[in-house]
Amino acid sequence: MKKIAVFCSGFGSNLQAIINAVKRGGVKADIAFVLTDKVDAPALVRARKAGIPFMYVDPDDFKDRLAYDKYVAGQLKKRNIDFVVLAGFLRIISPYFVRKFKNKIINVHPALLPSFKGVHGIRDAINYGVKVTGVTVHFVEEELDAGPVILQKAVNVRDDDTQDSLAQRIHKVEHMLYPLAVKLLVENRITVKGRKVRIK
Ligand code: GAR
Repeated sequence: MKKIAVFCSGFGSNLQAIINAVKRGGVKADIAFVLTDKVDAPALVRARKAGIPFMYVDPDDFKDRLAYDKYVAGQLKKRNIDFVVLAGFLRIISPYFVRKFKNKIINVHPALLPSFKGVHGIRDAINYGVKVTGVTVHFVEEELDAGPVILQKAVNVRDDDTQDSLAQRIHKVEHMLYPLAVKLLVENRITVKGRKVRIK
């Protein structure tokens, strides 16, 4: 069974959705490791409850991003991790790490990329006044939020939406789409050619 590592900085609801999908048997993956850069990330509690090995790696303990990522890569190697799943991991990944795990790192983003990149995808979509936004799952490349798109799903923006109400509907879609992407990944059903992703 393929081993995945999930990286989180916060709440961990996407981690939970993946844990649940694995438990239900829909996703045949071994969540072998959870890593966080935030000591108080609720995601760690979810990992502990699920009996998944987890680790807090403090960015302040490293001289730069490369040193941090080399340490993390070592931890993944030790655990024979096949794929890295970013789930609300709000740290930029170094080119070193991206090259080491080429087409093996995925991310979920709360907007239809290439619109509304960055850490405020939901707020930025509301402020822009778009009528449709959504969720994107994509491979991670060196440029932020710019890797090949694996899955996307649209979410309509309502006239009376607040950031919170829209976030709720976006998260619901994420919790369906992201476990599906993990399933496709661990079943080797995704191929990438340039920017084009095909799903078998
Ligand atoms: C998710 O909505 C994810 O799309 C977003 O962070 C949230 C994490 O929630 N990621 C980004 O904005 C990446 N640019 P979670 O911790 O509850 O899974």
